[in-house]
Amino acid sequence: MKLKLGERLITNNPLRAFIQRHVEGHMLRTMGSLKEYPLCLEIGCGRGIGAEIIVKQFGAKKVIATDIDPEQIERAKKNLKDDLKSIIEFKVADAMALDEPDEKFDAVFSFGVIHHTEDWRKAIKEIARVLKEGGEFFFEEPLRNFMKFFVKGGLLSAVAEHPLGGIFEFAEFKSELKKNNEEGIR
Ligand SMILES: C[S@@+](CC[C@H](N)C(=O)[O-])C[C@H]1O[C@@H](n2cnc3c(N)ncnc32)[C@H](O)[C@@H]1O
Repeated sequence: MKLKLGERLITNNPLRAFIQRHVEGHMLRTMGSLKEYPLCLEIGCGRGIGAEIIVKQFGAKKVIATDIDPEQIERAKKNLKDDLKSIIEFKVADAMALDEPDEKFDAVFSFGVIHHTEDWRKAIKEIARVLKEGGEFFFEEPLRNFMKFFVKGGLLSAVAEHPLGGIFEFAEFKSELKKNNEEGIR
């Protein structure tokens, strides 16, 4: 689901970029168990800060950074620094139906994106499908107790409405990740 105006303003600004670079990127990097992540996918890349982090902090040699919103992709292309142009490729794609082959990536990243999808389980299934055996999924996502204010009829839905199908509890998210691994979908 494309961003509503309120969240577009919150997302596409320098403070968000600062937090992503100096807090989220570092925290996620400490959770990774691989030394190198040569080929990476980012879903919902927004203005493109995540893709830069994936190169600089995770040492990716190639990043495919995707977003469902063509405007966000155009913004990310405009912001892309010259030294990253041969490494990062931006393209429009829906996280629930990725146009990528099975078992392609060493890591997939979601900086606050799964909760924007209409069906979070579909997105997890797609992520598991495109990850290589032993590949890793890095994410930061808000949970139901917070998101309930932002779904249709919620107190803050006028500012930044989100799809009902994108909200989850930690336990169900974790169990879905586990299920996809056990089914050998990756
Ligand atoms: C909250 S923004 C996060 C942007 C960026 N990752 C960041 O952290 O600043 C969520 C992004 O996900 C994108 N998005 C929403 N639904 C999507 C979907 N089904 N597939 C891919 N991207 C999606 C939106 O267009 C938006 O750019």
